[in-house]
Parts: sequence; structure tokens; C-alpha cells
Amino acid sequence: MATTHRKRILITGGAGFLGSHLCDKLLEQGAEVICLDNFLTGSKDNILHLLSNSYFELIRYDVCMPLQIEVEEIYNLACPASPIHYQLDPVQTAKTNIHGALNLLSLAHSLKKAKILQASTSEVYGDPVVHPQHEAYWGNVNPIGPRSCYDEGKRCAETLFFDYHRQYGLPIKVARIFNTYGPRMHPKDGRVVSNFIVQALKNEPLTIYGDGRQTRSFCFVDDLIDGLISLMATDPSFTGPVNLGNPVEFQILGLAELILKITGSKSEIVFQPLPQDDPQQRRPDISLAKKALSWAPTVSLEEGLHRTIEYFEKTLLLSQQK
Ligand SMILES: NC(=O)c1ccc[n+]([C@@H]2O[C@H](COP(=O)([O-])OP(=O)(O)OC[C@H]3O[C@@H](n4cnc5c(N)ncnc54)[C@H](O)[C@@H]3O)[C@@H](O)[C@H]2O)c1
Repeated sequence: MATTHRKRILITGGAGFLGSHLCDKLLEQGAEVICLDNFLTGSKDNILHLLSNSYFELIRYDVCMPLQIEVEEIYNLACPASPIHYQLDPVQTAKTNIHGALNLLSLAHSLKKAKILQASTSEVYGDPVVHPQHEAYWGNVNPIGPRSCYDEGKRCAETLFFDYHRQYGLPIKVARIFNTYGPRMHPKDGRVVSNFIVQALKNEPLTIYGDGRQTRSFCFVDDLIDGLISLMATDPSFTGPVNLGNPVEFQILGLAELILKITGSKSEIVFQPLPQDDPQQRRPDISLAKKALSWAPTVSLEEGLHRTIEYFEKTLLLSQQK
């Protein structure tokens, strides 16, 4: 009897927030998934439900070390994504971005041109002076600030991806991911959506840094994962970089008020000084993603927040029972 071919796919950072959703989706689509993670910010809880699946493998490993695995596609998501985590050990963050990219590009090259996708970030635009941000914009990044290990690390990774593409013809895909939220975000990672939800559910004050008039765009995780998979499926001639995010802009103060409304929380809102290099405004121009991937977000902020709040209600309840 003929067996169907299952594409073997490596996901680095697969036990993290985005990575674990990507594992779910690719398995659902019939792939064989190898999840590689050093559990710096990821968690076994995110992938526990996959451990009994015969087409799922878990490897505890650090991408800063060279590796050899037979796969057809690589999604490189390994890197702590929240400032609290990536600033804890900035040298390790830079290494994860740069050595990690080099090791995975070298793996893809040795496998005779496996396709490789880089999870880059809107942070490559720094504190942008052009709005909304289009892929052709080169950004406004402080090379020596506390966020630079991440921003410049990701920029260097992009450089390496394009050098491998030009020099060796490696099929690459670069996604510039904007703020994404949803179930399995780390409850203590300091990112605004998880911060506000946890504070609201605990009836603690919601902390706003600055005056709350700075804006962000928020993409629900399911939309983002669809974008990454669509990008990987594009013709080899399409490399990106391509922005993936939700272009609808919200003021941070408005977000806090919406979360208070949905949770029915009695928390008050308090204001604290803005951290260094915190961008005032960031919004993706997604016309390229729409054209090249036929992709655009479909989940509204209100619906996405409902689903995320439901998740945090469950996890907070579980942690109280432990
Ligand atoms: N979530 C967002 O809004 C967002 C925005 C832009 C870019 N990104 C990028 O997407 C990727 C995933 O982000 P996330 O939000 O899921 O973050 P996350 O912190 O939940 O996931 C990152 C994963 O990488 C693992 N990891 C870190 N260093 C590693 C190393 N050296 N070797 C192996 N594994 C390592 C962590 O343990 C974790 O499981 C990151 O590369 C991040 O920069 C995310």
C-alpha cells in the first residue's frame, strides 16, 4: 500500500508561544514536526498535548551549537521575544540570533537547499520615522542601546539570510512579525497584552508606561501562523522580507479599557515612565503580504482578546490549585 509523504519540518523555538501554535497547525496539516528548544522562555506545557503524537519529536537543544538533522523545511523561531527576557542575558540573545541563524542556514545549505524561514521582527524598524512601516524602509535603530541585542541581532540574522541566498542560492523566507498575542503567551513576559490581562484578572492596577497615547497594532496568533505557513509555501523566487501583522492601530490606553470591559475587572489604571528606546508608534503596511501571500488578518481585537482572556483565566486557576 502506498504511504503518503509527510513533509519533515524543523521548528526551532517550537515550545514557545508562536512555535507551539505552529507545531499544532503543521501537524494538523499532515506534516512530521521536529520541535527544537532549549526551554529558555518556552515551556513543556505548551506542547504537552503533542508528546503522544507519533509524528511529533522534541529535542532539547541550543541553536547556538551546530546541528545536523534531515528535514525539508526549517522555521527559525528560537529567540526570547519579550524585552524582559531578552535583556536578561543580552550576549546570549545576540548569539541566539546570529550564531543560531548561521547554524541553521548552514544546516539548510548542507541539506541541499532545504527551505528556511526566519522569524524576524518589526523591531528591525527600531523607533520608525516612517508610518506605516513598509518593507523598503531601513529603520531607525539604536545600535548600542539595551534593546540592540535583539534589534541588531535580528537585523544581522536578516543579513545572513540574504547573503546565503545570494551566495549559495538558498531558498529563504523572511517574515517581519509585528506584535502578536494569544493563548500561551508567557504570563510574566512584560508584554502589554499579557500584562494587562493578568493584572485585570487579579484585580491589580494596570500599568501603562508613558501617557498611553502611544499606539500598537495587535495580531492574533492564529492569523500570524497562517501568514508564516503561507509565506513558506510561496514560490522560491519570493524571499520577503514581508511584514506580518495587523494594521489596525490601537492606543495603549484604549487596549487597557477594552480588557477591563471584557474581564469586568475593578482594576484602576496607573501610569509609569516610558522605558528607553520604546517606540511611540508602529504599524505594518501589509500590502506586500496581501499581494504575495493573499494574506490578511481576520480575527478582530475583541474576539482575540476574549480567547486570550479565557486561556489566562484557566492557567491562573490551575496555578492557584497547585
Ligand atoms: N510574539 C511576537 O509578538 C513576536 C514579534 C516579532 C517577532 N517574534 C519572533 O518570533 C519568535 C517566537 O517568538 P515568541 O513570541 O513565540 O517567543 P517565545 O519566547 O515564547 O519563544 C521563543 C522560543 O525560543 C526558545 N529559545 C530561545 N533561545 C533559544 C536557543 N538559543 N536555542 C533553542 N531555543 C531557544 C525559547 O525557549 C522559546 O521556546 C522569536 O524569534 C521572536 O523574535 C515574535
